[in-house]
Amino acid sequence: MAGSTPPRKGRSTAGALGDGLEEAWLVAEAPAKKAKWGVTVSFGLRGHFNSFVLLLLVLFVVFAVSITTRNDDGNGGHERREAAATTTVPPTPADDPGAAGDDGGQGDDLVGECDMSSGRWVYDDVSYPLYKESACKFMSDQSACGRFGRTDLKYQHWRWQPHGCDLPRFDAVRLLRRLRNKRLAFVGDSLNRNQWISMVCLIDTATPTLHKSMAGGNTSLVSFRIHEYNASVDFYWSPLLVESNSDHPVHHRVADRVVRAGSIAGHARHWADADVLVFNSYLWWRRQTMKVLWGSFEAATAAEAAAEGEHRAAYEVTDSLRAFELAIRTWSEWLELHVDRARTQFFFTSISPTHLYSDEWEAGSGGNHQCYNETEPILTEAHRGRDTDPAFARAVEAEVARLGDRGVAVRVLNVTQLSEHRKDAHPSVHRRQWSPPTAAEMEARARDPSSAADCIHWCLPGVPDVWNQMLYAHIVSSS
Ligand SMILES: *[C@@H]1O[C@H](CO)[C@@H](O)[C@H](O)[C@H]1NC(C)=O
Ligand SMILES: *[C@@H]1O[C@H](CO)[C@@H](O)[C@H](O)[C@H]1NC(C)=O
Ligand SMILES: *[C@@H]1O[C@H](CO)[C@@H](O)[C@H](O)[C@H]1NC(C)=O
Ligand SMILES: *[C@@H]1O[C@H](CO)[C@@H](O)[C@H](O)[C@H]1NC(C)=O
Repeated sequence: MAGSTPPRKGRSTAGALGDGLEEAWLVAEAPAKKAKWGVTVSFGLRGHFNSFVLLLLVLFVVFAVSITTRNDDGNGGHERREAAATTTVPPTPADDPGAAGDDGGQGDDLVGECDMSSGRWVYDDVSYPLYKESACKFMSDQSACGRFGRTDLKYQHWRWQPHGCDLPRFDAVRLLRRLRNKRLAFVGDSLNRNQWISMVCLIDTATPTLHKSMAGGNTSLVSFRIHEYNASVDFYWSPLLVESNSDHPVHHRVADRVVRAGSIAGHARHWADADVLVFNSYLWWRRQTMKVLWGSFEAATAAEAAAEGEHRAAYEVTDSLRAFELAIRTWSEWLELHVDRARTQFFFTSISPTHLYSDEWEAGSGGNHQCYNETEPILTEAHRGRDTDPAFARAVEAEVARLGDRGVAVRVLNVTQLSEHRKDAHPSVHRRQWSPPTAAEMEARARDPSSAADCIHWCLPGVPDVWNQMLYAHIVSSS
């Protein structure tokens, strides 16, 4: 595989991203999680008014259905169809807790032949956002841009319009019926956590009466549970998928990154029994070289001690793409041998692009304000940022194809191109400050606000909701 490696000019910038900013952001999020989810929180509707409320809801739905029936007389224009296709569904009576035994229908095909990744962004302040930031009880500080002072909310109002179809509307109850007694797990880095929070919010805001809880927090595994459905939507932290010295859920900021490219079992035991698995891994590989360790960290430490600090005794310094290929092979071999392919659905979310270089969309402006102050998407077709390295995407695709040949179906959620356009949708400076900035830092930021900007993760509601609309379509379409 190394022999077929294409030229990778993009990666010459890896150092700029890889060693500074990236880690600063990837590290910074853990305290937020701790603060928010250190305690298990529960919400639910209780009390004597339950049946009365239920009755009112039933009456309301009967009324709503009769209106819908009258309106749906077959002459709905394209616009109405589009709007209907993209809004969230109002909750059904008591969010459908009693519909036991219903698995949500046998795989109506919401995807068909349509390539959902090919399309354009359309401004649509009627159907979007799919939920309000403040309505999501489990929102992460890292994505709560409004809470941290962002006042231009235009970024929330864009709809992704595939060329050949409409994105299916997100119906939380329909998804939950599919996930009854099941476990959906997101496994990967902070971008995958971003997507997981989006999924949590899509479900939470659409099912206000359900009893939900968040468990974990300071741990690698965080579990969002929807109790009426015995369903869980989990996130597991493993930024390089395989084992590495960056696996600590809080203290993962290490200057010298070491990856055990052949070892994944220690992580996999936390997610192997999930019914739907969504993987990702990219940003943490964005450096020129990686140290690859064969064998255990303990053995390496011993060998190092024996060699009196001679690192080469234990580590192999490898081109990072090569290390990624080794790791992704370990991942695929593990899936092939250990996961029930008949029962489990596999997804791999493609590269989430960054907007760290403003010259990519405004040539010759001088200076680099990153995504700071950006309020509009890039509307030119096929824009691609220099941090998006197609060689890594090809490595995933090759491994996914190899797995396909062996009877394990993994679907790549192709979110890269659609997200490339959204320079306006990052938190930028509207994010939690991890420690109070010093006076000197405040001054520096006033002079150059972009120095404090996060142009890697995404505000919510926002772009990852679209990724989840795609994921949703595939999950409910499966038979
Ligand atoms: C992902 O989608 C974009 C936009 O449609 C397309 O250009 C690209 O080839 C797709 N990538 C893969 C691997 O399918
Ligand atoms: C609840 O869901 C888990 C999977 O997440 C499953 O193993 C368990 O059997 C379910 N419990 C019931 C009572 O069905
Ligand atoms: C969270 O992890 C940090 C670092 O390991 C530790 O110091 C702290 O005590 C933990 N907090 C809780 C609530 O477990
Ligand atoms: C950001 O945008 C605001 C409003 O358009 C403008 O007043 C401000 O000067 C801009 N700041 C920078 C650093 O470009």
